[in-house]
Amino acid sequence: MSTTTTPEHDHATADLIQFLEFPSISTDPAHNEDTANCADWLVTKLNGIGLQAEKHPTAGHPVVVARNEHKPGRPTVMIYGHYDVQPADPLDLWKTPPFEPRIEDGVLYARGSTDNKGQILAHIIGVQQAIAEDGELPVNLIFLIEGEEEIGSPNLKDFLEQHKDELKCDLVAVSDTGMVGKGKPTFTYGLRGIAALEVRLTGPSVDLHSGIYGGAVANPATALARLVATLHDADGKVAIDGFYDEVRPVEDWERKAWKKLPITDDELLKLTGSPELFGEKGYLALERCYARPTAEVNGIASGYQGEGSKTIIPSKAMVKLTFRLVPDQDPTHILQLAVAHLRKHLPPGVEMSFYLGHSGNPYVADPHSKAGEAAQRALRATFPGAEPALIREGGSIPIVQTFKDVLGVETLLLGLALPDCRAHSPNENFPLENFHAGSVLNRHLLKELAAGV
Ligand code: BES
Ligand code: MN
Repeated sequence: MSTTTTPEHDHATADLIQFLEFPSISTDPAHNEDTANCADWLVTKLNGIGLQAEKHPTAGHPVVVARNEHKPGRPTVMIYGHYDVQPADPLDLWKTPPFEPRIEDGVLYARGSTDNKGQILAHIIGVQQAIAEDGELPVNLIFLIEGEEEIGSPNLKDFLEQHKDELKCDLVAVSDTGMVGKGKPTFTYGLRGIAALEVRLTGPSVDLHSGIYGGAVANPATALARLVATLHDADGKVAIDGFYDEVRPVEDWERKAWKKLPITDDELLKLTGSPELFGEKGYLALERCYARPTAEVNGIASGYQGEGSKTIIPSKAMVKLTFRLVPDQDPTHILQLAVAHLRKHLPPGVEMSFYLGHSGNPYVADPHSKAGEAAQRALRATFPGAEPALIREGGSIPIVQTFKDVLGVETLLLGLALPDCRAHSPNENFPLENFHAGSVLNRHLLKELAAGV
């Protein structure tokens, strides 16, 4: 294990460390107070740099909104981000504890460092620097920072609808996506959507002796394995009837552009640590991630998980599924198709129940819109000499399409995460270089957008 080095922190890094110390895990009610405290920290920080910030309660975790003094004739830019994080487990795989930020070789390690605290704080620091140096910002600004992104933003749509007037803006900017490589500026013009579904099978009323009753009744674990196996064909294509009906084909120019990206198959093998790449036939791996839908098992459980053996027929089995969706798939419709598929393929002898989880629409925008071009100019100014890569991302930010539906605006996605930042994984990290580049990017972006969108 390498030693922790603590170089002299500048103020921004010190702020980031404080921000990262809150275990603001939105999915776990045991952390509700930490999550609320994290929102309070943000309010204090935003007020401290000269904005008017408020914490708004919701049915779930609070939303933080901050604004400068809005002046007529200027574009209004909303910067969206999230202060909640994913759970940190498995804890034993972290080199040092996830909520005790550590810097090693210029890289900050902590849960949330890249997704999304480092990236949203970079915007805040950029705004802080602009106000300190110029006395004001070149645009009307709204920060909207929520605490429920990692659980699918269940309360944010209502919040947008209720505060539609105050949140009126010309466009949204988000740094919660990735770069295709170190020093390679990246403009993301699409995201996958998501739909989550938990399936539970029940058989006998209690775990049974597998010798006394084995052969007499169905085993829910076996039934679940058979059911899950019906979701794909042998080539990795999703086998649910109608699943691909609304899928927009990958465009030729995208295919050509993505072939040239530095994320090669070899690089993907390294990044994932998998023995080989696998997925839907006829598409390159990156195409499958950016622009093709998937069905994934996120968790599966049944029967005895302890040391040694235990001869039982488990009473129940469950699987957590998510579908990653692309334009123009609709999450509600896909869940209906999935439920119909699972009903049709349910093996005999067990009962099935469904629990619908979060969902979010896919998003795609024109990378060459006026605002898209402004964003790319800001990226060029931040990373001189490098031409921005144009990509769609495989991840989801459920509120992005909702911004379009409720506020009528497009979102610019200017992410700073590197492929090996390990978002959602142990040892999540963010190079301080990217953190500082993020505040430079914010200043270029606001200037470019002030010139007209
Ligand atoms: N920042 C990610 C989304 C992301 C990751 C976009 C990588 C592009 C590249 C975001 O915080 C996230 O993880 N979203 C969740 C949403 C879900 C829990 C509803 C996701 O994609 O799993
Ligand atoms: Mn995330």
